Amino acid sequence: MERYHLTRSFNSEGYDLSVTEVDIPDPSLVPVLTELDLLSYSEPTFSRYTIGGIMRFGRIYLIKADDLVIGACHTFRSFDDPEAVVIFNMALRPGWRGHGLGSRLLQGVLLKLDARKVKRVALAVANNNHRAISVYRTKFGFKSVDLLQNEFNNGQAYHLMQLDLAEWLGKN
Ligand SMILES: CC(C)(COP(=O)(O)OP(=O)(O)OC[C@H]1O[C@@H](n2cnc3c(N)ncnc32)[C@H](O)[C@@H]1OP(=O)(O)O)[C@@H](O)C(=O)NCCC(=O)NCCS
Repeated sequence: MERYHLTRSFNSEGYDLSVTEVDIPDPSLVPVLTELDLLSYSEPTFSRYTIGGIMRFGRIYLIKADDLVIGACHTFRSFDDPEAVVIFNMALRPGWRGHGLGSRLLQGVLLKLDARKVKRVALAVANNNHRAISVYRTKFGFKSVDLLQNEFNNGQAYHLMQLDLAEWLGKN
C-alpha cells in the first residue's frame, strides 16, 4: 500500500491508495459506479445492467483513496483476439483528476492483466480527449492502429489504440 498526498491536499495525513480487482460481484458498487459514470461523461455510458454485467462477466478495477472509490476501469476479453483485453471505460471522480492517479490506476490494471497472461490491451478514445490520449499514448505507449470515424454514431472520431504488454513491461 502506498501513501498518497494530493498536491492541494485537504487531508494533510494523506491517503492509502490501492488498485484492486473486483473478483466477486458486489451490488453495492453499482450505484457508486453509475454515479462515477454520470460525473464523467455528457451522456451515460452505463446502466446498472451494463455495470452488473461487466462486473460478473468482465473485470472491473477500482482505485481507492482510503475506503473511497475515486476511479474505475472496466474491461472485458476480446472475441477477435482471446489474448487481448479491451478497456471499455476508465474514469476518475472529477476532483481527483490531473494528479497522476489515472496513470496509477492504469499501471495497476496493466500489471494485473499481465499476471493473468493477457498479451495485448485495446481501447477506443475520442480524438478530442487530449488528456486521456496523453495518458495512453505518451505515458504508456499505446499506439493508434485505426481511426474510427463514426462507429458510435455520434459524429465523434475515436482512436483505436493497442498496447503490447511485454513491450510496455520491457520499458518499465
Ligand atoms: C482520463 C483520466 C482517467 C486520466 O486520469 P488523470 O489522473 O486525470 O491523468 P494523469 O494525471 O495520470 O495524467 C494526465 C496527463 O495528461 C496531460 N494532459 C492534461 N491535459 C492535457 C491536454 N489537454 N493535452 C495533452 N496532455 C494533457 C497531463 O499533463 C498529464 O501528463 P503528465 O503527468 O506527464 O504531466 C481522467 O482525466 C478522467 O477520468 N477523465 C474523464 C473520463 C475520461 O475521459 N476517460 C477516458 C475515456 S477513454
